[in-house]
Amino acid sequence: MRPSIAAAFALLACGFAGAAGNPMSYSEFTRIMGSFQESRLLLTAVELDIFTAVGDGASAAQVAAKLKTNPRATETFLNALAAVGALSKQEGVFRNTPDIARRLVSGSPEYARPALMHTVHMWTGWSALTESIRAGTAAAPPGVEAQDPQWTGAFIAAMHRNAATNAAALVRDVGVTGVRRMIDIGGGSGAYSIAFAQAKPDLRAEVLDLAAVAPIAQKHIDEAGLSSRVTTRVGDLTKDDFGRDYDLALLSAICHMLSPEENQDLFRRCHRALAPGGRLVIRDFILEPGKTAPRPAAMFAVHMLVNTRGGSTYSEQEYRSWLESAGFVKIARPASPGDLIVAIR
Ligand SMILES: C[S@@+](CC[C@H](N)C(=O)[O-])C[C@H]1O[C@@H](n2cnc3c(N)ncnc32)[C@H](O)[C@@H]1O
Repeated sequence: MRPSIAAAFALLACGFAGAAGNPMSYSEFTRIMGSFQESRLLLTAVELDIFTAVGDGASAAQVAAKLKTNPRATETFLNALAAVGALSKQEGVFRNTPDIARRLVSGSPEYARPALMHTVHMWTGWSALTESIRAGTAAAPPGVEAQDPQWTGAFIAAMHRNAATNAAALVRDVGVTGVRRMIDIGGGSGAYSIAFAQAKPDLRAEVLDLAAVAPIAQKHIDEAGLSSRVTTRVGDLTKDDFGRDYDLALLSAICHMLSPEENQDLFRRCHRALAPGGRLVIRDFILEPGKTAPRPAAMFAVHMLVNTRGGSTYSEQEYRSWLESAGFVKIARPASPGDLIVAIR
């Protein structure tokens, strides 16, 4: 079974594991309250690229010289990283652990820092949670709207890492029979369109995304050798007319960015864009009716509260009513993997 969207977003939802609704002891409450300190330690380690600076082993003074940071502060920080086990220290020399070195020393084959920088950027929105609850929306302008190249690069790297892992399974779950033209709305890195095109030689896909993102998708499409069948389109999913006669429209990790009204409007435009019998595939966190479970989906709603203007996570019932009023028939939610809703025009 492929990882659920909850697992795919584990990077953002880290620490959220556990059964929803289990009563929390006071000691657990205070432990979690204080855990931001260790989280911030690791975020700053990634932000400063500490593990690359430590390389094959370095003293605090050498790391400070490489990073142009304060020597006293750097030593304090490295000691704490060793205390939590993210580094080791022997006779004044700090060393990377093999597991972390594999992901966090620049040049390593599984170098994950570009994607992990997205988690670093998430700190800003979450720090303003109190203000967001007062205001009812992201306290700072949502990063995705700023189209800052560094923010966007990290965001799409994080999305690509999840999508590349899940794409083949999604194609298997959805199937490609009868799909000749598809549109991947807010398609990000294009990983899903690439996987669909790889699964069917006559399938053509369009990846619609923002101007800052389309070139990133184009690069992945070119690398996959699929530029003749997978194209990019700069557009705005909140208002564009997508065109007509698609056999499949994919909304992967899109609906949670949008308000209920925006989703209803999007579904109406998807309905218009599909050929009769065409399918709309939604892949997202899906809440149980009471909205307190699954725990990652309830937590992701807060993630959207602090990072978007009106986004949230939604229940199957909400999706069904919006899809029905947009004109879709035969709305199904496959039991496994549980994060898909398929609606037929
Ligand atoms: C959470 S990512 C999902 C990416 C991809 N569908 C996936 O599952 O990996 C959301 C995507 O929507 C895009 N996006 C956000 N607002 C958009 C807008 N107004 N118009 C077009 N794309 C947008 C983002 O750039 C990003 O690629």
